[in-house]
Amino acid sequence: MQQAIDAFITDVWAAAWDRGEVEALDSLVTEDYVRVDKATGHGTGLAELKQEILAVREGFPDLTTTIDNFVLDGDTAAIFWTSKGTHTRPFLGVPPTNRQVVTTGSNILALRSGRIARETVTWDDSGLLEALGIRSLADAAAAPEQVVVDTMSGEPDPEVMKGFNRQFVTGVTVVTTTEGGVPKGLAVNAYSSISLEPPLVMVCVQKTSSTYPALFASTHLGINILSNRQKDTVSTFASKSSDKFAQIAWHGGPHGSPLIDGSSAALEAEIRERFQARTHTIFICRVRHAEVGEAEPMVYKAGRFYDGEELSAL
Ligand SMILES: Cc1cc2nc3c(=O)[nH]c(=O)nc-3n(C[C@H](O)[C@H](O)[C@H](O)COP(=O)(O)O)c2cc1C
Repeated sequence: MQQAIDAFITDVWAAAWDRGEVEALDSLVTEDYVRVDKATGHGTGLAELKQEILAVREGFPDLTTTIDNFVLDGDTAAIFWTSKGTHTRPFLGVPPTNRQVVTTGSNILALRSGRIARETVTWDDSGLLEALGIRSLADAAAAPEQVVVDTMSGEPDPEVMKGFNRQFVTGVTVVTTTEGGVPKGLAVNAYSSISLEPPLVMVCVQKTSSTYPALFASTHLGINILSNRQKDTVSTFASKSSDKFAQIAWHGGPHGSPLIDGSSAALEAEIRERFQARTHTIFICRVRHAEVGEAEPMVYKAGRFYDGEELSAL
């Protein structure tokens, strides 16, 4: 009997996970099948399992799953597995990294009449997140469509939130990289220095940006603090123009990131972390090179630009 269930499960797993034939699961699970994530306690059904398998296979088309061990004890079984695949298509909003990912896990199965009625899944996603170059913030990357508004703790009205942001004064930067030797970049005011020792900085970039895939795949990026003489440069880099550098004088940093001539300051940094915050990615970077110019910075507040030279002291 053990051999039969063992072989049955192994065959269906290979069909579903290795070949994407998710209908094979119909014969393996009961009608009230539940799949529980041990870490979150969140339960899902067969339809979600099929979707998950197809999504993983979409991102990792060469996925293979090996059952390392199968233990059966009455109506309870345990499966220990290892999955391997190459990240050649977008997955969880992450552009292809072409990295090999190995992840392991175990499922505890409650069997009924030779079918799986319930399974509790434990898996180590650290290898996956590391290979993808991301860490998940509040599960935002893993299940964006499942984020539930917590009415008890509340949320401000979006207009109030916009008002809050309008009261914050920043400079304007252009974040740059190259793709196949072609310079790319976008205007970003979500820049912050993190620490001086080590010299860490961060920028926050929307995933819909056309610069984003190149930025995500880069080992380094450039951050240019725009000067009060670069109003046209902001317009260019806040646009979707396909060749934003056509009229821009720039030079490469030691690792090739475009540094824009005439900026108030510019740096090149190595990308160390790519935190996922649902629609945006926060790049944490270690500065490798910095240049400080003479020109005063541009100031940005509530959608308008100001001359940083004309600030009046309090
Ligand atoms: C002052 C200013 C600040 C901006 N800050 C950010 C930012 O912090 N992060 C971001 O992703 N986009 C920001 N944007 C918007 C992008 O620059 C804009 O969407 C741009 O068209 C993206 O270009 P791309 O899609 O070619 O990369 C900002 C725009 C302006 C004008």
